[in-house]
Amino acid sequence: LHIAVLMGGWANERSVSLMSGEGIAKALEERGHRVTRIDMDRQVAARIAEAAPDVVFNALHGVPGEDGTVQGMLDLMGVPYTHSGLATSVIAIDKQLTKQALVPQGIPMPGGRIVRSADLHERDPLPRPYVLKPVNEGSSVGVAIVTDDGDYGNPIARTAKGPWQDFPQLLAEPFIKGREMTSAVVDFADGPRALAVTELKPKSGFYDFDAKYTDGRTDHMCPADIPQAITDLCLEYALKAHRVLGCKGTSRTDFRWDEEQGEDGLFILETNTQPGMTPLSLVPEQARFAGIEYGELCELIVAAALR
Ligand code: DAL
Ligand code: MG
Repeated sequence: LHIAVLMGGWANERSVSLMSGEGIAKALEERGHRVTRIDMDRQVAARIAEAAPDVVFNALHGVPGEDGTVQGMLDLMGVPYTHSGLATSVIAIDKQLTKQALVPQGIPMPGGRIVRSADLHERDPLPRPYVLKPVNEGSSVGVAIVTDDGDYGNPIARTAKGPWQDFPQLLAEPFIKGREMTSAVVDFADGPRALAVTELKPKSGFYDFDAKYTDGRTDHMCPADIPQAITDLCLEYALKAHRVLGCKGTSRTDFRWDEEQGEDGLFILETNTQPGMTPLSLVPEQARFAGIEYGELCELIVAAALR
């Protein structure tokens, strides 16, 4: 096949996308495909039309590659592409819209509210500890945990000149103490399957951007050393989220679990429709655990796009 790998772009996750895209491009070349690498810019439609690939492999993360914009452009052009379509992407990139889609289907997520970052100057939106995050970013860009002892910074000081000046609206959620897990779903010819559960154990602080992409900063336990009932629930919720949101190719659902609360303490934080494919990323790691090599995983994602 002739596959155009779309990567880069101008999102905060540009560097992550370049790592994902290069890994995917190399793996697809090794498997005998003709690959055109396309760094996303505003002329991307013209360059895809010129390349005329059989399929676009979308290796973008964040806005506008993960939020429906690129998906709509490719729909309009009539070019098949990997991962989720327009409507799914619009909902899944937005952590608040995701709650509105999943919670009524019996999938537990923390209650949250949208706050204007300007209002943070005046008061806390929730009792501490709570989490503040942009509604539509990835890789923990702009995320802070606000605690009484100010471990991760004072929101009021941070808003004035902090990571949120670009985000007029933020999502505030109660902080769920405990453990962090993730589960990948991949579409096979006979339907989607949840692969495994990984527990993420950052060596310090929380699983932020540096802990995600610096080798050695986080231990990945796959399979997670948690009770079987919690593993089963993670796999069930990840698969259900994939189905309810209408994800395609692959998705990865992230969890927090307060073990003192047993099964009632498990919450989905979000479902990622364009999960990372870098050397430290979790979907390739879980695929390997399930006996699927990186190149084969890329091939499965392409096959789903062409079904
Ligand atoms: N947003 C990053 C790429 C992930 O979900 O893996
Ligand atoms: Mg994410």
